Amino acid sequence: MKVAIGSDHAGFPLKENLREYLVTLGHDIEDVGTFSAELSVDYPDWSEKVTTRVATGGADRGVLICGTGIGMSIAANKVPGIYAALCTNEYTARMSRLHNASNILVLGARVTGLDIAREVTRVWFSTEAEAGRHLARRQKLMALEAANAKEATRPQSAQRGRVVVLEHPLIQHKLSIIRDKNTSVKDFRDLVQEIAGLMVYEISRNLPLTEIEVETPICVTKAFSLKGKKLAVVPVLRAGLGMVEGILRLIPNAKVGHIGLYRDPGTLQPVDYYCKLPNDIGERDIFVLDPMLATGGSASAAIAHIKQSGGRRISLVSMIAAPEGIEKVTTDHPEVDIFTAGLDRHLNDHGYIVPGLGDAGDRLFGTK
Ligand code: RB5
Repeated sequence: MKVAIGSDHAGFPLKENLREYLVTLGHDIEDVGTFSAELSVDYPDWSEKVTTRVATGGADRGVLICGTGIGMSIAANKVPGIYAALCTNEYTARMSRLHNASNILVLGARVTGLDIAREVTRVWFSTEAEAGRHLARRQKLMALEAANAKEATRPQSAQRGRVVVLEHPLIQHKLSIIRDKNTSVKDFRDLVQEIAGLMVYEISRNLPLTEIEVETPICVTKAFSLKGKKLAVVPVLRAGLGMVEGILRLIPNAKVGHIGLYRDPGTLQPVDYYCKLPNDIGERDIFVLDPMLATGGSASAAIAHIKQSGGRRISLVSMIAAPEGIEKVTTDHPEVDIFTAGLDRHLNDHGYIVPGLGDAGDRLFGTK
């Protein structure tokens, strides 16, 4: 597992010790500092380094150490996507993983002895999170986080996905128009592309950048370029197609995969009849496009297929989502982020989202 570890001066000796210990447990460690017990530093600075790694997928999990563990806990839990747990014994370590699925272990070097700290670390790293009622509670935490989020952040490969409602006024305005049953096919189609573009604009605001040099007509200057391979977008056929162009207008180098699914009339399970993904899908951030997240069956099956093909950093982009669909996807794929513009009430007996906008495929392609 990729682990980012950091401490302030008070936590430094324990950090040094645990870093070596984590290597013996087989983990790949990035030590972000601090590197001295003598120089007094501020714990929020070191918390930020570790939480950034975890929230953006640079590390699978993190370890933070200060004197009491309290400052680091408070600082870490300010960051969306971070669930930091101050653990003082083997029991709290186990529970913080089983029930809370914490992704940062916090230790207090002045209150927890070395042997206990090592045991806490061993247990915390070897315990998997439980689903069931604990997952439902964690979803409430995610919903709280989404409700309080000022802006969408992008932990594409963070340990646990989030449910983010994009409340940008332009998105909400356009969403209202496509909900209207009197909106024409042409306007509906145009607006879906615009909403998709605006959603991805919000979602991609924290994509990692790399510094480059550019020669302007005046002089050479430092500038920034998107780091690494670009995105892959994977529309779920057929309604997902309606979102592709709007995203490609913003990110023209994104690769496009396609997944087609139908529901087997006997088993009622989604079966994929077509799948073509970019060869390097494993190296890309992947946006699965499904405008309506209703039961979640197709979206979940599409994500499963992408994972089997090597996809790792997957987000689901749905204009409108029903609680049933969110439950399905977060249960099947707890690490996947779900971005939506509208969190609707429920599904009706025909499987349509209420209030929703009807059948997005029919409205996009004028088939009804
Ligand atoms: C540093 O003296 C100490 O305040 C810090 O390590 C931590 O305990 C804060 O919560």
